Amino acid sequence: MKKIVVLVSGQGSNFQALIDACQQGRIDATIVAVLSNNAQAYGLQRAEAAGIAAQALDAKAFADREAFDAALAQAIDQYQPDLVVLAGYMRILSNTFVQHYAGRLLNIHPSLLPKYPGLHTHRQAIDNGDAEHGTSVHFVTEQLDGGPVILQAKVPIFPGDEEYEVIERVQTQEHTIYPLVVSWFIEGRLAMRDNAAWLDGERLPAQGYAAD
Ligand code: GRF
Repeated sequence: MKKIVVLVSGQGSNFQALIDACQQGRIDATIVAVLSNNAQAYGLQRAEAAGIAAQALDAKAFADREAFDAALAQAIDQYQPDLVVLAGYMRILSNTFVQHYAGRLLNIHPSLLPKYPGLHTHRQAIDNGDAEHGTSVHFVTEQLDGGPVILQAKVPIFPGDEEYEVIERVQTQEHTIYPLVVSWFIEGRLAMRDNAAWLDGERLPAQGYAAD
């Protein structure tokens, strides 16, 4: 059975979607551990409820980002995972960490990348009068929110929408596309090569697998 380690910082609703997909056999793998930079993350309670090993590391206990990430990598590597999944992990990763997991590190970012890397993406989309927003699953590279996109999902923005409404709409899509992409990886259908994502031997375009 292939092994997945998940990193969370907060709610962990995407983590829950992955737990459910593993339990229901939609992902043929085991989530062996969840790690967090935040001891209060609700995702840690989800892990406990699901019987998954959980551990928090406190950044204040480490001299710098490199030292924290080295400890994080050591904690992850105990489990020898096939895949490391960032699910609302809100701490910037060092290049050393990213290189160590190159090709087996996924992230989900709430925008239609390359639009809106970074924070407050929903707010920016509303303020700019965008008619649509969305989410992107991508391989992680040294460039923040800049690695090859695998799959995106779009949602409409309606006039008068509050930020929370757009967030909810985006998250509903995230809970579908993230488990799907993870299943592709676990089945050996997905890889990162030449700074691109490849699915079933085909190089995916910049916006990822075209679902529409
Ligand atoms: C998600 O919207 C994801 O796109 C972003 O952070 C959010 C995490 O939500 N990276 P959750 O912790 O999975 O509920």
